[in-house]
Amino acid sequence: MLHLKVLKALASDGSPNRLKLLIITRLGMNLRRTFASSVLATLSVVAVAPAFSLAGEVRVYSGRHYNTDRQIYKKFAAETGIKVRLIEATGISLVERLKREGRNSKADLILLVDAARISNAAQSGLLQSYRSSKLESEVPKQYRDPRSRWYGLTRRVRVIIANPNIVNVEELSTYSDLANNSFRGKVCLRKRNNVYNQSLVADQLVLYGEGKTKRWLKGMIANVNQPYFSGDISLARAVAQGQCGIGIVNHYYIARMLEGINGSKDRNLARKLSVITPDPAHVNVSAGGLAKYAKNKKEAITLLEYLASPDGSKGLAGPTFEHPLKGYGDAPVLRKFGNFKSSRVTISQLGESNAKAIKLMKNSGWQ
Ligand SMILES: [Fe+2]
Repeated sequence: MLHLKVLKALASDGSPNRLKLLIITRLGMNLRRTFASSVLATLSVVAVAPAFSLAGEVRVYSGRHYNTDRQIYKKFAAETGIKVRLIEATGISLVERLKREGRNSKADLILLVDAARISNAAQSGLLQSYRSSKLESEVPKQYRDPRSRWYGLTRRVRVIIANPNIVNVEELSTYSDLANNSFRGKVCLRKRNNVYNQSLVADQLVLYGEGKTKRWLKGMIANVNQPYFSGDISLARAVAQGQCGIGIVNHYYIARMLEGINGSKDRNLARKLSVITPDPAHVNVSAGGLAKYAKNKKEAITLLEYLASPDGSKGLAGPTFEHPLKGYGDAPVLRKFGNFKSSRVTISQLGESNAKAIKLMKNSGWQ
């Protein structure tokens, strides 16, 4: 029986090139250290093997940078006998790796965060279409590919955070409010190259059209207090510390800070923040699809259907403070943010509008 223990996983903020996993493999009494690396990022391989495994395996290439995902893979392995081998890296390097490997790739199932990344993987021909009545009933239409190449698995909300000592929180209810004159020099944003805000802009583009989105961007960028940030967490800290009055981040980063997962210092900072969930809210997903050259297709389908099921989606979303596909995450900290009403924009539409969103961001001066 093979035991594998992951000792440490970094990259809680999803920044590129920050993944470093130290894996200690214990085989009987022997300890063996393995370091896997690639040109773009350090990759990790985690095997989650059931005690009685003879039932095959599935190789998951995951851009979900959350250590806690192992729990649900373990549960899956225990229930099905299918061994999960996990290879983690940030979204961009995973896609590059898959392109490089081509038909020699060992990937069976691909998981990525954000509409922009999963759409890009599909457009690059890295995924294969697969339909099942199970997936179609478990994954609401808005959260899956019309061509069945990927399916949403967990949901995240892009929320506004504010420091009530710096701005009047009552003036904030929608993303468009960030363009108001009263917030001059008070807005902080993450860098343009991050997909989270690209998808937010894509959402606004689909909802309100190009003219209105351009005006919003122009007004919001005029309010920006530089520098632009490289992560949601560093941005949240800056708002809490009063360097900025307002920011936009994914909800789960604040939930994790409040829960003390990053330490008591971050918890105390997060307590200073007001969280505003716009109505409608920009909701994004982490999603999965079958790899184009999957060798263990049957096992990959079994895992994908498992992760899309209510138990699987909750199992993935719970420990990371995301929301499952249906309903809301049940952690008390999430209830404090209030429920959200998702914008009508589909994940597929976000992907389609990504290039245009980036262009508008660039033209508006978003750095
Ligand atoms: Fe993230």
